[in-house]
Amino acid sequence: MRLDKFLSETNTLSRKDAKAAIKSGLITVNGIPATDSSVNISEEIDEIRYKNRIIPYLKNITYALNKPAGYVCSLNEADGIPVHNLLPPELRKRLNPIGRLDKNTTGLLLFTDDGDLAHSLLSPKNHVEKTYLVNTLKPVTDEDKNRLKDGVNLGDGEVSLPAKIMSGKDDFEIILTICEGKYHQVKRMMQATCNKVTALKRISFGGLTLENMKLNEGEGKILSEAELSELRLKGSK
Ligand code: URA
Repeated sequence: MRLDKFLSETNTLSRKDAKAAIKSGLITVNGIPATDSSVNISEEIDEIRYKNRIIPYLKNITYALNKPAGYVCSLNEADGIPVHNLLPPELRKRLNPIGRLDKNTTGLLLFTDDGDLAHSLLSPKNHVEKTYLVNTLKPVTDEDKNRLKDGVNLGDGEVSLPAKIMSGKDDFEIILTICEGKYHQVKRMMQATCNKVTALKRISFGGLTLENMKLNEGEGKILSEAELSELRLKGSK
């Protein structure tokens, strides 16, 4: 990345002020005064200093949590225990959830400080897939499955987009993949088939699965570069 971009991205100096600071010899790259604001530096390797103080480079962080039931995706304690409480303390202020899960929904919830990534994963245009393990009050019949596959009326005129369905361990369980994220979407889809969700767990989001990430309930981790690339790919369609 260009030195002036680095200085502005880290909120050290505007590009214009960076030029002036470089002219005055106030910026060093690995101990050597920089002479050109357009020089390419490696933000992860090179040590950049302004007035002799190291400028740390904050990389974006995206975090995956296996959300337990009972936590809310809201910072308002009146709604319940904020799911943010389960993040490492140093990340709590920094990260926002990518979409929401209901209080009693468990499973994969992503957080990020990368606004572009969040936007691309949530944009209805990108059809990012989310898969849920759905347990129901009544058996899900083949006819229900076909209706869910085709799209059901969610009430107030909204119709769900075609979904993918796989059978679960018995007739009271299905594995449902949807590529949109409307409010209470899965619950409303099951309601449209005159059924009721008794337990809901998100097992995958944008190609990332809880199984591959080996996260137990309540556990979380920062995504690896490979996992991030997978997500970015899914968000760029
Ligand atoms: N659909 C729902 O109804 N609830 C969730 O938490 C997620 C998807």
